[in-house]
Amino acid sequence: VTTYELILVGFGRVGRRFKGLLDEKRAFLKREGIDVRVAGVVTRSHGCTSGGRPTPFHGTDTVIDLIARSRAAAREGRLVLVETTTLDIARGEPATTHVRAGLAGGAHVITANKGPAAFAYQALSKAARLAERRFLFEGAVMDGVPVFNLVRETLPGVNVSGFRGVINTTTNYMLTAMEGGATFAGALAEMQAAGIAEADASLDVDGWDAAAKTAALANALLDARITPHQVEREGITPGSGRRAAEARRSKRRLKLIASAGRAGDRVTARVALEELPGDDLLASVEGPQNAIVLQTDLVGEIAIVQRGSGLTQTAYALLSDLTTIARARPGARATLRPPPTAPARRSPSPSRRRTR
Ligand SMILES: NC(=O)c1ccc[n+]([C@@H]2O[C@H](COP(=O)([O-])OP(=O)(O)OC[C@H]3O[C@@H](n4cnc5c(N)ncnc54)[C@H](OP(=O)(O)O)[C@@H]3O)[C@@H](O)[C@H]2O)c1
Repeated sequence: VTTYELILVGFGRVGRRFKGLLDEKRAFLKREGIDVRVAGVVTRSHGCTSGGRPTPFHGTDTVIDLIARSRAAAREGRLVLVETTTLDIARGEPATTHVRAGLAGGAHVITANKGPAAFAYQALSKAARLAERRFLFEGAVMDGVPVFNLVRETLPGVNVSGFRGVINTTTNYMLTAMEGGATFAGALAEMQAAGIAEADASLDVDGWDAAAKTAALANALLDARITPHQVEREGITPGSGRRAAEARRSKRRLKLIASAGRAGDRVTARVALEELPGDDLLASVEGPQNAIVLQTDLVGEIAIVQRGSGLTQTAYALLSDLTTIARARPGARATLRPPPTAPARRSPSPSRRRTR
């Protein structure tokens, strides 16, 4: 068993749920040869908690100090920086700096924040390769449902040439609710109460969250070099509710579709309201569901549908990234699932025997 030291940068809804999941999945992690120890937690308003008393927050320097204190684990490839700070759509910071600092200090980095892959995927991947560490971000798109892992781990040699998807839960839920007569404000309030809308809800309704995910997908799957600001973008407005209801009456569905495609050297990416025919797979993606259709050269189109989303799924993405890191370690344990525990067999009762 290898003890991984975790530095948690950001400890809000996702960070706390991840910490809880580590406890709940302790037996699974042990079977994978993973033990974890939280070396420190950094948040903006609580500063740094590591061992003894909390120390004040001095921005990225606090994170760099904490990494430096875990030198032995870093040298041995056992240090993992878990980045779950708030998304900043202007520049993808401070998350991108945290990822860079983690890799430079010898840590693997896993994150649910879209910023780093959306703004600096190529540079951070290169830094990870040079440092012989991993930079993983499964939770950035469709929570714990494998999209990046699916392509990276299970589709060797396959080129992804494009994708289309419904990848923002808040706006899809709102469009579905407004088709049924809900108001824009009412539907948004429901998503905020469920903890699904971003802290700044304009990131969702103005299409920024979808644009960040589109950039992350295009950078990682299509080898693009774009930021969310280069994604053509549209959001939803109260008027979209009327359009959605009209579309539904004519057996069509209004959806906020994220898409990207490569043609030669050029990658184009956009987030736009589209009226889909009823038999389009994406037309049936209801409420809080998400889906993405990947276009590939060798296996045609692959659709991944997520029927429900939430904090546990996002936290699971971090757990799966941690497992990916551990499985790549030389001498890692076999990754086959153990057989399910068979229910205890009871001999049939005499009365049963008679009726058979
Ligand atoms: N919630 C979801 O369902 C979901 C799903 C997929 C992806 N994500 C992504 O996961 C990330 C975390 O989401 P969340 O819902 O957990 O957010 P959250 O509850 O708002 O928590 C954010 C955390 O980041 C900390 N933080 C913010 N700026 C910081 C800085 N400069 N340095 C250090 N810590 C900082 C906050 O600390 P203070 O509280 O002390 O300010 C807080 O602990 C976001 O990037 C989000 O886009 C979330």
